[in-house]
This record gives sequence, structure tokens and C-alpha cells, in this order.
Amino acid sequence: MKKYHIGYTCGVFDLFHVGHLNLLERCKEMCDILIVGVCDDKYVTDIKKKQPVYPENQRVRILNALKVVDYAELVTIEETDDKMLALKKFKFDVLFSGDDWKGSARYLRTEKQFAEYGASIEYLSYTKGISTTDIKKRIETEK
Ligand code: CTP
Repeated sequence: MKKYHIGYTCGVFDLFHVGHLNLLERCKEMCDILIVGVCDDKYVTDIKKKQPVYPENQRVRILNALKVVDYAELVTIEETDDKMLALKKFKFDVLFSGDDWKGSARYLRTEKQFAEYGASIEYLSYTKGISTTDIKKRIETEK
């Protein structure tokens, strides 16, 4: 019996790597059904001020092909920033987020809002030593 029924996490997941996989495996250990919100290209260019290497539809396809992911769908800037919008859309029991957000004003507020809907937040640790940014840099320096 898993701790939660429906779990949700979101991110860009560009240049899919083992840090992404570790996160998704940890999420899936805690829920029966794992939904992944994939940030759209507009979020990456406008908010992260980066250019995605893999376009949004390819990133969604890769995530949907993973056995640890039950369902992946694009999410907008608004749904990424305001987790209540994501909660209302996907009706999950738990949101999985990076532990770097724990204790921040934004997440403390979200925890309170979620409590009214009976939803929880679980904070998961980041895999050290790998990120999309690092991979891009490594490729650049090897040119
Ligand atoms: N993540 C993780 N460990 C890593 C990289 C990412 O746990 N080494 C998690 C993030 O915390 C997030 C999800 O994977 O919950 C998607 O992260 P994303 O921002 O797409 O990945 P990064 O590789 O960190 O990308 P960037 O370097 O562009 O920030």
C-alpha cells in the first residue's frame, strides 16, 4: 500500500537525465498514479530565460514513455507558478517538489491552501552533480 493515491510533480525535463529519473522513481515509490506536468517552451524562454534543447512535445513524449510515469501533460506558466491551478486541474493527493523550496514563503502559503483541499506536499532531495545546465556546459566546452 503506497502512502498516496495520485501524485503530481512538474518540471522542464530537458535533456532527460538520471537526476530526473531519480526524482520520478522516488515519487512513484510514494504514489499509485504519477502525473507529471511538463513546463511548456514559453515557460522556459520567458521565465527561465533559456532556450529548450528538446521542444515541449518531445519532452512530453519522453516522459509519457517512462514506466514510472502514468501520465504527462504540458502545463502553462500560470499552472507552474500557481500550484492551486495544477491541483484543481489534476486533482492529486500530493505534490512532489524539490527540498530547496521547503520553508519558502511561497510554499508555506501553498501548504496552507492545499490543506483546505486535503492535499499534501512532499519535499524530495535534488541529485547532486547533474543538471541540464551542467550537461549543456559540458557539451559546449568539449566542442
Ligand atoms: N531534479 C533533481 N535532481 C537533479 C536535477 C533535477 O531532483 N539533479 C528535479 C528538479 O528538482 C525538478 C525536476 O527534476 O523537480 C525537473 O527539473 P529541471 O529543472 O527540469 O532539471 P534541471 O536538470 O535542474 O534543469 P536546469 O539545469 O535547467 O535547472
